[in-house]
This record gives sequence, C-alpha cells and structure tokens, in this order.
Amino acid sequence: MTVLILSILAVLTLAVTFDIFRNRKIRFRTLRIPFEYSGSSNGKSGFRILHVSDIHLTSSTMQRLKPFENLAETKWDFVLITGDLIDDDSGIEPVCKALGRLEAKYGKYAVLGNHDYICFSAKNFYQWVRILINSFFKLPTSFCGSNDIERLAACLKENGITLLRNQLEERVSENGEKFQIIGIDDPSTDRDKPAGLYSSVNEDAFRLVIMHSPCRLRAIRPFKPEIVLCGHTHGGQICFPLFGALSTHSDASRRESSGLVYLEGCRVHISPGIGAGRIVPFRILAPPEITEIVLEQSSSAIEVSAEKTG
Ligand SMILES: [Fe+2]
Repeated sequence: MTVLILSILAVLTLAVTFDIFRNRKIRFRTLRIPFEYSGSSNGKSGFRILHVSDIHLTSSTMQRLKPFENLAETKWDFVLITGDLIDDDSGIEPVCKALGRLEAKYGKYAVLGNHDYICFSAKNFYQWVRILINSFFKLPTSFCGSNDIERLAACLKENGITLLRNQLEERVSENGEKFQIIGIDDPSTDRDKPAGLYSSVNEDAFRLVIMHSPCRLRAIRPFKPEIVLCGHTHGGQICFPLFGALSTHSDASRRESSGLVYLEGCRVHISPGIGAGRIVPFRILAPPEITEIVLEQSSSAIEVSAEKTG
C-alpha cells in the first residue's frame, strides 16, 4: 500500500513539475469575435487587437518578455494591456520598453492591476500581517507596500502607451470608423470609478472597455460595450483535471476562469495572462497566453489557431 501511495505521489510530482516547466512557453492564440455594428460606417470587420495581460515582471522573470520580440514584427490595430504589468519596480523599464516596441495603428492603451499598485514582498512579514487583518475586516489595501506608480505611468507614456485611469479615449480609423476605449482603474483595489464616464458614451462608436479584473461588471453595463477585456484570473492559475480552476479571485466563476464569457450581460474576454505573482510563482494546467482578437461580422466566435511564441 505504501509503495502504491508513494508511486502515485511520484507520478503527480513529475506531472506537476513537467506542467510548470511547460508553462514557461507562452502560447499565442487568435480568437475571432462576432459583433453587430449599429453605427454609420460599415467597414469594421477584420480589426486586429492584441490583448496582453498579467506579465508580473520583475528582474528575475525577464524571460516573459521573449514573445514580444516576434510580436513587434506585426502591426496591430490596437494593443490593449489589462494590468499587472509588474510585480515590483524592477520590472517598470523593461516591461514598458518591450510593450513600447509593439506597433499599433490606432493606439496602445493600458490599465493598472492590483499588483501594479501593491508590492507583495515575501520578505515583508509586517505587510502579511496587515493583509490578513485587511482580509478579515474588509479594509482597503492601501497600507501595503506600494510600487512607484508615477514612475510606471511616466515610463508607459515615454514608450507610447496611453494609461487610462477611469478615462475614455475616442479614435477614428482611416475609414471613418469610431472607437471608444474606456479604461477603468483596478476594481480589486477599489479604484474603479466608471460612473463619471457614462455621459461620454458615443453610441455610434465601437465601445471597448478594458479593466484588470472581471469584477463589478454591472457598473460597466451603462457603456453598452461591444466587448470588455480583462485579466487577473491567470486562467485559474492552479487547475485540476475534471475539477478545473481552484479560484478566479473575481466575480467570474471557476468555469469562467479564461476565454470568451458573458457576465452581467457583457461579452467579456478574460485573458489567462502571461505570468504569476511572486507568492504563488507557478501555474498548473493554466497555460500562459497572449491573445489576438479579430473583430468579425459573423455568427459565432471561433478559435482558429494556437502556436507557441516564447
Ligand atoms: Fe495578475
């Protein structure tokens, strides 16, 4: 009996180790998404959006930037980044430079996530005590160690990336098609303030909401977005065969840990993201991914390709 248990444990350990190493490869996936357009122009089909999320970069995880070398050869229509770019300040300049090399015809936009704001350091015991107290009493997390957000914001700007913190931008394509990019600040640290933007909605524009976490989507509904792009869940990060994700740490259910889902009446793409935080620095059965979204006038969303890039 002991031999059998030890054998099962050995096989499980090998499988988990293999999966952790396999997940160092970041896959590239293309997702075709249908839409109904009610605006005044009709040429929007085929727009390509690169959706990047949850890089969690630090000086010790630079290999996560490797796929961006290949992606810089393509010109996208939009590059949209849904937060958790860094885990600490050492990631600021490298991640901004890598994202800055990507090319987008109509703009590169980013929102921030909880790990951009809060520096979760394993060495800081006092911080962990405070986080536990915060979780118990449901207090704000602003007392935790913080990253240098102003430096991150300035570096994004220097590299051609527009940071949206409860802000909205409108762009017009060369064919006259209007887009609104609505960037909501991080809901998981209570920074989301969408209400002030409701009156700026242009119903003739194609409306994209970007936010870090699939949380409080009821407050996003007044935008009537064609699609909401999020990250944060890491595809569940630790998943089990048949059971699926342990948790999504958001309003999305375990079955909605990544991919195209419908939440609170919104069509939402939840990116599995690229990395993981330093507290649980690995992923099991939750492959990291960069997604290309192609907007098409068709009746169903079809995944058309998946290939390794990094
Ligand atoms: Fe994350």
